[in-house]
Amino acid sequence: MEITKDIISVGVNDYDIDLFEGQYAVKNGMAYNSYVIIDEKIAVMDTVDKNFGEKWLSNIEKTLAGKKPDYLVVQHMEPDHSANIKIFAEAYPDAKIVSNEKAFKMIELYFGESYEDRRVVVSDGESFCLGKHHLTFVFAPMVHWPEVMMTYDSTDKVLFSADGFGKFGTTDADEDWTDEARRYYIGIVGKYGAQVQAVLKKAAALEIKTICPLHGPVLSENLGHYLGLYYTWSAYKAETEGVAIAYNSVYGNSKKAAVMLCDMIKAKGKDAELYDLARDDKAQAIAAAFKFSKLVLAGTTYNNGLFPCMKEFVDGLTERNYQSRTVAFIENGSWAPTAAKHLKAAFEKSKNITFCENTVTIKASLSKENEEQLKKLADELCNQ
Ligand code: FEO
Repeated sequence: MEITKDIISVGVNDYDIDLFEGQYAVKNGMAYNSYVIIDEKIAVMDTVDKNFGEKWLSNIEKTLAGKKPDYLVVQHMEPDHSANIKIFAEAYPDAKIVSNEKAFKMIELYFGESYEDRRVVVSDGESFCLGKHHLTFVFAPMVHWPEVMMTYDSTDKVLFSADGFGKFGTTDADEDWTDEARRYYIGIVGKYGAQVQAVLKKAAALEIKTICPLHGPVLSENLGHYLGLYYTWSAYKAETEGVAIAYNSVYGNSKKAAVMLCDMIKAKGKDAELYDLARDDKAQAIAAAFKFSKLVLAGTTYNNGLFPCMKEFVDGLTERNYQSRTVAFIENGSWAPTAAKHLKAAFEKSKNITFCENTVTIKASLSKENEEQLKKLADELCNQ
């Protein structure tokens, strides 16, 4: 696929993968993007997942029609992009490998090769000329690993953004960008908001017409929309007013309360989404908690603590620096309900969390009094 006259996509789509990074369900597969820049010198931008090495080399060969690449630019060493460095180096023995010091250390760890005689070590902000295309390397540590760098082509105004602006799903998946990009971003990079903000600051100084990520589609229209979402996500701001309700339920009573609250909120004209933490996609539930301004956690007391899937969910939020939200609790326990206490303690180190005044305590099954408490909680959530 031609991105510009000189920049061609040579990446691959993985239709068979079930779990990306061994944990994220990807019902519409995954794309491992790679690009070639054809100029007086030819650069290949990153490799692809290990299962697609031959296909990727064949894409390069067909695209270059007899020419050979001069450089492989390595922007990110996670194996979904770096797995084929060695077979590239063998296929093109005269090509040089361009990356930074941290990446070369990882190359040695992964491949047992240092490529001393054919490495070009670049630094942050350094320019690299291919002929008419001038590349500038924009280091992006922790977006998503420490060695990550992005690359700006000032000739075609293209930002090669590494994992940034990527999403789950193959490039031809017929699905909304935002939902799967949010699930990807929050899941994989959510912890590193400050580092993403730093890169966005650098990107703001560049004129960008096209974003070429390592996953998902190339973005060339309405870039303000995508940049704006990245700003919101990395600043830990809510994307939209509304309530994510995440529950676990053993015998259906906590679920009944969660569903009732969701209906009450919707009846007031507010947005709410309900997640069963034992059954629904965990990454989707975490992304929803970040998307909305408010979160309700409804859960069972278990071993005088939290139910396992609730504990895992809350850990998933706090380890991603969940902050600046309103949080409410519905707890359940047949003799000593303590889930709310444990949930509140779990957010002890989280910044700027406001807890609702109304906590609903269910003793075994939902009482009339509980229904009144849920109404009060719905009022509090909708009137803030
Ligand atoms: Fe797509 Fe961090 O690798």
